[in-house]
Amino acid sequence: MSTLENKIAIVTGASRGLGEGIAVELARRGATVVCADLHSAEDTAATLQSAGSPKSSSAKVDVPSAASVDELVGSTVETHGRLDIMVNNAGIYTYGAIADVTDEDFRRTMDVNIGGVFNGSRAAARVMKEQKSGRIINTASQLGKLARPNEGVYSASKAAVILMTQALGLELAPYNITVNAICPGCMHTEMMEKSFAEIAQSEGITLEQKLQDYLDAKIPTGRFGTLEDMGRMVAWLASDEASFTTGSALNLTGGEQVFF
Ligand SMILES: NC(=O)c1ccc[n+]([C@@H]2O[C@H](COP(=O)([O-])OP(=O)(O)OC[C@H]3O[C@@H](n4cnc5c(N)ncnc54)[C@H](O)[C@@H]3O)[C@@H](O)[C@H]2O)c1
Repeated sequence: MSTLENKIAIVTGASRGLGEGIAVELARRGATVVCADLHSAEDTAATLQSAGSPKSSSAKVDVPSAASVDELVGSTVETHGRLDIMVNNAGIYTYGAIADVTDEDFRRTMDVNIGGVFNGSRAAARVMKEQKSGRIINTASQLGKLARPNEGVYSASKAAVILMTQALGLELAPYNITVNAICPGCMHTEMMEKSFAEIAQSEGITLEQKLQDYLDAKIPTGRFGTLEDMGRMVAWLASDEASFTTGSALNLTGGEQVFF
């Protein structure tokens, strides 16, 4: 197992779901993690502390706000002296036909999903360029690579994450910094349940039926992804073992999608 001893990490969206899974895995491998979220991530930080990462902490952040993200990164560097791993994971899901999506939902989705990744990447890049080392890892989605009805706004926001990741990977490679995205498929979190509930309702079937139908039809490995699956992929990208991987958008879908 790769070690992340003495590494300092920030994970956004760490109060629950995939962000929590990422924070737990990074800490398990030795990193000190600042668990950042719009809502309190104190419970996540407490879990890390009791699991042997005593300096891990929580912080409030609103990722579409550059000032809020700059403050998060600045205070992390002030406290810990450096920033080795920036995980821009916070995101929101929007369901609805493009013809029906409101201005507010469109803007909020873009502001959080791509604006948040931009703010986090820019703040981290400035610190990491000085250090001449670092890892930036962005949570995109398989929906950043394919179109489906009713998910166009979310897809567009995640496609933007992938392209920004690729460009930044090229820009930062000379500074010993890698930048990669992960494209999860169906990972069992509150966000996934919410999105499936909306689809089930629109199809007039129960959530349980929708989940089972989807598994049977689409995921060859026969299960949904877990927080641990996500945590392990982030931990690998954050490690020295992944130093030749940059500008990638790696699928984490159990075979649901196999495209590049
Ligand atoms: N769950 C899936 O199946 C799945 C699939 C593909 C991609 N994703 C992506 O993975 C990431 C995490 O998803 P999840 O399933 O854990 O979702 P989730 O809704 O369970 O958790 C998202 C977290 O982000 C936080 N957040 C939302 N807006 C924020 C803001 N403005 N500032 C700071 N934090 C904010 C929330 O408070 C929450 O803790 C998202 O970017 C999502 O788009 C999830």
